[in-house]
Amino acid sequence: MSTVPTITMNDGRTIPQLGFGVFQIPPEDTAKAVRVALDVGYRHFDTAEMYGNEKQVGEAVRASSLARSEVFVTSKLNNGFHRPDDARAAFAGTLADLGLDYVDLFLIHWPLPTLYDGDFVSTWRVLEEFARDGQARSIGVSNFQDSHLRRLEAGSETVPAVNQIEAHPYFTNDAVRDYGRSHGIATEAWSPIAQGLVLDDPVITGVAAKVGKTPAQVVLRWHIQRGDIVFPKSTTPARIKENFELFDFELDAADIEAITALDRGEKGRTGPNPDTFDYVPK
Ligand SMILES: NC(=O)c1ccc[n+]([C@@H]2O[C@H](COP(=O)([O-])OP(=O)(O)OC[C@H]3O[C@@H](n4cnc5c(N)ncnc54)[C@H](OP(=O)(O)O)[C@@H]3O)[C@@H](O)[C@H]2O)c1
Repeated sequence: MSTVPTITMNDGRTIPQLGFGVFQIPPEDTAKAVRVALDVGYRHFDTAEMYGNEKQVGEAVRASSLARSEVFVTSKLNNGFHRPDDARAAFAGTLADLGLDYVDLFLIHWPLPTLYDGDFVSTWRVLEEFARDGQARSIGVSNFQDSHLRRLEAGSETVPAVNQIEAHPYFTNDAVRDYGRSHGIATEAWSPIAQGLVLDDPVITGVAAKVGKTPAQVVLRWHIQRGDIVFPKSTTPARIKENFELFDFELDAADIEAITALDRGEKGRTGPNPDTFDYVPK
């Protein structure tokens, strides 16, 4: 029995609020990590064509004894494939690599406003096709700023179900989260523990000592109580288990506020700025 709450997206579908991310897990280690996570109880996996491990995620999910409907799988359109025909071919490749006939959620990985004449709206219309034919049950975006979301709103009919953005105590990204909240877009927080960077912060270690939990559990619980969706990555079995144990304690309002106050604004961003990021993998 799962203890993980679900979030209802604007298309009426639900997504487990806690999942497992596989960015930077080498393909040869991915199936094992996903198997460990499935055994612990994770039922939501976040991969991407860019991560090079969709095959291994699909392999582990398909090898489990779970029904397809019990597992939520997300993947993302890589940066080289924003043109509509390229996007269609890339999505077919994602389904083939996963060995699944649908994904639960498919995202535009980056907006790339300086490439493709800045036209991510045409790309989004292709994701709308995937949703219409049921091969992507839900569709969303990743790394979209509020200006990008406004352009989608003006140029298309579907509001993204989620926006997956960098967010953690040093970069709370609240303006983009607030835009999402007021427009029915759920926020997914990537690098939720800032790849470990925030775990030695005295405010976080202080709260952890007070509530008798680890710093990672405190930070992940902070995200959960803020209402965001998270999928921490780990290849360490003990941490995979630790990161799943978030539902037997609560942070009080003062703790939440103290952690939120660690925000460093743009200086706290650890990944690329979506307004200028233009990396296209070869
Ligand atoms: N859309 C995007 O552009 C984007 C960008 C980045 C990430 N993401 C997604 O978000 C997921 C999570 O982000 P992330 O992988 O960048 O970073 P993260 O989950 O914030 O941190 C992962 C790092 O923290 C370590 N770690 C995990 N649990 C820990 C614990 N309990 N105690 C101490 N250290 C711990 C891991 O080490 P070990 O593995 O060695 O245990 C790993 O080095 C990704 O896997 C991916 O699915 C999306």
